[in-house]
Amino acid sequence: MTISAGTAACGDDETTPPEEEQYSTDPADQERVYPHGLASGDPKPDGVILWTRVEPEAEAGPFDVVVEVSTTEDFAELVAKETVTSDAAYDFTVRVKVTGLSPFTTYFYRFKSRGVASPTGRTKTAPAADQDVKVRFAFASCQDFIGRYYHAWKALADEAEPVDFVLFLGDYVYETNGDPDFQQVSADRAIDIPEGIQLLPSENPAVKAASTLGDYRGLYKQYRRDANLRRAHALFPFICIWDDHEFANDCWQDHSTDFNEAQGDEKNPTRRHAATQAWFEYQAADVTFDAAASPPADMKIYRSLRYGKHVELFLTDQRSYRSDHVIPEGAAADGRPAGAPMTLPTYGDVGKVFPNSAVFSRNFVKKPPFDQIEAYVKPTMLGAEQKAWLTSGITQSTATWKIWGNETQLAQMMLDLTPFDIPDAFKGIYYFTADQWDGYRTERKEILTALNGTRNVVALTGDIHAFYACEIHVDPDVLTGTPALVEYVTAGISSSPAQEITQGTVDSNPAFSTLAGLVPMFDQILTDTSPEYRYANSLGHGVAIVDVDGDVELRVTFLQIADVKSATWDGSVGRVSFKTVSGTSAVVPS
Ligand SMILES: [Fe+2]
Repeated sequence: MTISAGTAACGDDETTPPEEEQYSTDPADQERVYPHGLASGDPKPDGVILWTRVEPEAEAGPFDVVVEVSTTEDFAELVAKETVTSDAAYDFTVRVKVTGLSPFTTYFYRFKSRGVASPTGRTKTAPAADQDVKVRFAFASCQDFIGRYYHAWKALADEAEPVDFVLFLGDYVYETNGDPDFQQVSADRAIDIPEGIQLLPSENPAVKAASTLGDYRGLYKQYRRDANLRRAHALFPFICIWDDHEFANDCWQDHSTDFNEAQGDEKNPTRRHAATQAWFEYQAADVTFDAAASPPADMKIYRSLRYGKHVELFLTDQRSYRSDHVIPEGAAADGRPAGAPMTLPTYGDVGKVFPNSAVFSRNFVKKPPFDQIEAYVKPTMLGAEQKAWLTSGITQSTATWKIWGNETQLAQMMLDLTPFDIPDAFKGIYYFTADQWDGYRTERKEILTALNGTRNVVALTGDIHAFYACEIHVDPDVLTGTPALVEYVTAGISSSPAQEITQGTVDSNPAFSTLAGLVPMFDQILTDTSPEYRYANSLGHGVAIVDVDGDVELRVTFLQIADVKSATWDGSVGRVSFKTVSGTSAVVPS
């Protein structure tokens, strides 16, 4: 519901101090009633979304929940106060849109319910569209919980200069509890998925993927028990979009790909709808969910937020409207797209050997034949409507910097294995993964052509679990002239890095043993082959901070955490910084 500042019964509050005594502030009570913390999101110049969840324990609810907002941490004067309801329909989550606030102002908020007052949260509204202020924000993605720890959130919270907000680019939760491709379970960092689908029935029936609404809600509840994550939410407003794992690995529309077509075409709108509802319930995003509609019409998450004179954010959804991967996992090696001429390469020419496998279908595909097939298929990543919204929004924006919150990487990610002493069958120039924009290169070129010439467009990206800084050209194979835009890619908060995943794939398959010596050379091969990269660290974890200094420059600092598999952390942070000077579309060390 929406409440307005100024409607608070401030006078009543001043004359009824006994109310404070009705609500316990004992930390044990707060942990019992608000175990998933509190959050704020989608800051606007006049408002913000506030969130919490009231744990019902043995009670059935519904519960009254008082929301209080103040400019001071002691709540001496309230600018908004209202009573809302928490009930089972949305899993006892509470989302309140507060309006009538002042721009670029810090507020404190808390909730009161079931006799307990929540801890205090802090948030900050956006600057007004003409407000000439410096902006500092973080961007992050990919926080796999399994066997891994969120030291990166602690590093961000402990920064001397706080950020204004956090842009989260997806993979907030992972839908599996031990996918052997990238998850190694540890005793205190495990996830329970009670109703899930068995991911590997013949190998390990305990490995499941979330299936029901209860499963997806359970993921958010288990992830939010992490103290560092809860602290980050309590300190900063988040602006969230999703990527694949909020539903299913490398998903497209309402299709998962986890089961390599073993269950048919993996279309499951009921499962997609459940994942969407859980995201809506647990993220403080200013979007609406239509429980009666079918995906993707049940919720639209692509949106823009103006943040002062110098920043406008454009947040895309690269899962709900995209085409299937160019090479379907279940296709035969001698297959071609439906209706394709016999002159088009086969999937086998791209490298496909294994049936029902992502390897050589969407991961590690040979570039020249893949490009021919992609040009024939012309898949879409955004869908026509979103693409038109994005390109017109960025080209017409009056903000100094146009920031594209972009889930999957734009920079062409090639690995040339031809120079190495390996079997001929493996020699070739590969795309690391065709799930990112490399697999949708016709549409990428169309978008970059539309954006080329627009001043100060910056893509901020997650998904790939690596730190990269890149200059993006309209044609990544012919780097001439000024880049169309720059792209900064943050590694996961915790998820297995790109090189580590590659190591695991090579180590687990005897057919790839001859490639083992190349894995440690990952970044060297990548940057030798892919000229758009100005920096690469494919073994990183952490978070990134952006400092926007008006029409002067935009700086990006990667905060790198060396070890996320140990519960303890010595507090050390590796810092690597770059900047883009206004008007240049260039990445330079800072
Ligand atoms: Fe991820």
